[in-house]
Amino acid sequence: MSELTLNNGVTIPQLGFGVFQVPPEDTQRAVEDALEAGYRHIDTAAAYSNEAGVGAAIAATGLPREDIFVTTKLRNGDQDRAQAAFQDSRKTLGLDYVDLYLIHWPVPSQGMYVQAWKELERLYENKEIRAIGVSNFLGDHLDNLLASSDIVPAVNQIELHPSYQQAELAEKCRSLGIAVEAYSPLGQGGDLNGSAVTAVANAHNATTAQVVLAWHLAAGNIVIPKSVNPGRIRENFAASTLTLSAEELAAITALESGARLGSDPAVASFTQL
Ligand SMILES: NC(=O)c1ccc[n+]([C@@H]2O[C@H](COP(=O)([O-])OP(=O)(O)OC[C@H]3O[C@@H](n4cnc5c(N)ncnc54)[C@H](OP(=O)(O)O)[C@@H]3O)[C@@H](O)[C@H]2O)c1
Repeated sequence: MSELTLNNGVTIPQLGFGVFQVPPEDTQRAVEDALEAGYRHIDTAAAYSNEAGVGAAIAATGLPREDIFVTTKLRNGDQDRAQAAFQDSRKTLGLDYVDLYLIHWPVPSQGMYVQAWKELERLYENKEIRAIGVSNFLGDHLDNLLASSDIVPAVNQIELHPSYQQAELAEKCRSLGIAVEAYSPLGQGGDLNGSAVTAVANAHNATTAQVVLAWHLAAGNIVIPKSVNPGRIRENFAASTLTLSAEELAAITALESGARLGSDPAVASFTQL
């Protein structure tokens, strides 16, 4: 499995497993299936209410802790108590440390995310988190954070898939040394049915999900597809062995439509996220 090196030297498996909208009661089983399939990178969040299932699966596998990269995220309503919220997540996961901790959304009021970032910096310096980063940050949010911070985020986890690529934001992140992590990488399934991805898939005897994930990996994105289906969990992991030609990659890139699926961080109602 390919790994990327973050701006602080920590390595992260490029293809991980996301658990947004995996019901709490199903999470341990889904994460165990993912670990069995070969994933060594799990992406959860306090807001998903399934950190306990992630931790239970990690404990049940018997894999060495250092072999699994675990990300969780600071809930919006906890930005004024980031250190305590981190400890809540760490205990719910049943872990001594977390590999990557993200500010989930750039709550704009009263400099909240800047204040929270300072708390994350303390946790990082105390070695309770191996890398710290952000999610859903637009260029202005990054500029604002960097203007008053000591540590450059290791990653920005943003909505990114063939029909919504945020190319300018991704380029800005890379130019700042911030790794781009693609969420909803399959467009929540909506990017899997078009004729372009189908033609590429047929040419490789692959599935359209594997084609889309191979496109992400070739672009250098960290990518975290979600599935509760054991067959699809394995299918998605196998995308790491698929190599597309320059023409095929360009055909996928041409699918940009500018249509976002999730909330727009510029105008989102953060209290509901
Ligand atoms: N930071 C944020 O604000 C944020 C927001 C959204 C997501 N995320 C992260 O990104 C992860 C992935 O995003 P996502 O869950 O929104 O969307 P996604 O991974 O793009 O798509 C998931 C959907 O695609 C289906 N699917 C998965 N593999 C498939 C396959 N091989 N063939 C056909 N359908 C397939 C899944 O159904 P089945 O489960 O039935 O297979 C599910 O409906 C999340 O789990 C979470 O970790 C972060």
